[in-house]
Amino acid sequence: MGAIAGRVAVITGASSGIGAAIARELSEAGAYLVLTARRQDRLEALAADLPGKSAVLSADITMPETPETLLAFATAQFGRADILVNNAGILRVGPLDTFDLAHLSPMIATNYEAPVRTSYVFARAMKAAGGGSIVNISSIGAHLTAAGVGIYGGLKKALEMASDALRIELAGSGVRVGLVAPGTTATEIFADMKAHGEQGWDEYITPLQPEDIARAVRYLLEQPARANVARMHVYAAADSH
Ligand SMILES: NC(=O)c1ccc[n+]([C@@H]2O[C@H](COP(=O)([O-])OP(=O)(O)OC[C@H]3O[C@@H](n4cnc5c(N)ncnc54)[C@H](OP(=O)(O)O)[C@@H]3O)[C@@H](O)[C@H]2O)c1
Repeated sequence: MGAIAGRVAVITGASSGIGAAIARELSEAGAYLVLTARRQDRLEALAADLPGKSAVLSADITMPETPETLLAFATAQFGRADILVNNAGILRVGPLDTFDLAHLSPMIATNYEAPVRTSYVFARAMKAAGGGSIVNISSIGAHLTAAGVGIYGGLKKALEMASDALRIELAGSGVRVGLVAPGTTATEIFADMKAHGEQGWDEYITPLQPEDIARAVRYLLEQPARANVARMHVYAAADSH
């Protein structure tokens, strides 16, 4: 078994964008995949198009029982879970006067509580098994601030703090925790913005493509057991932040 070949990787938010690209990258590298998101049709279409074995679990990652269900599903399908990529996320932005506070709880649930809960559930199993890798998808927004983006960036920053603490707690256990922080990447995450007549961030500059982020995730996972590339920031080359 290689660093990725023959490993079992669970990818959240695999139905579009960065998650789908990570699925393709890891499948090409020989991983067995568990693909999860809410849109089953998208997951099944992706699974049918991948070169390697995969299994699909349609679930809402914000439901507290989903991480345990995912772990049980991966174990039933492939015998274990070696890699977890916490990628599912949503983006709602807006300044004080217009931000819809109805978006606050779903953003906290999706972008913070779900990856933390899923990391803990999988980390406990990986620690017991003596090895594994967890990659959390953050954002360059965790390190920048501007009007209208404090809630999203703050949740990513909180996720980074929780991930770092978990990395420290797991040091020496064989379980590695790392972060990839994407810059502006052309995905459906900007669809809500565009539906409200705003320009998507991916329309201001030449954006990254999802596969650029997938390559970074693969790089983290391909390191020898002694090395942990614990954080990687991937900026669009045209980004002046
Ligand atoms: N695109 C960027 O510029 C950018 C930059 C920095 C960081 N990121 C981060 O990258 C990650 C992936 O985003 P993306 O750009 O690829 O966006 P995307 O194309 O909109 O994909 C988001 C994924 O998350 C899933 N998801 C959302 N809510 C969910 C829920 N409640 N339960 C289960 N799955 C859920 C979606 O699937 P379903 O709707 O089918 O459930 C979808 O697969 C996010 O964490 C995002 O914050 C993106």
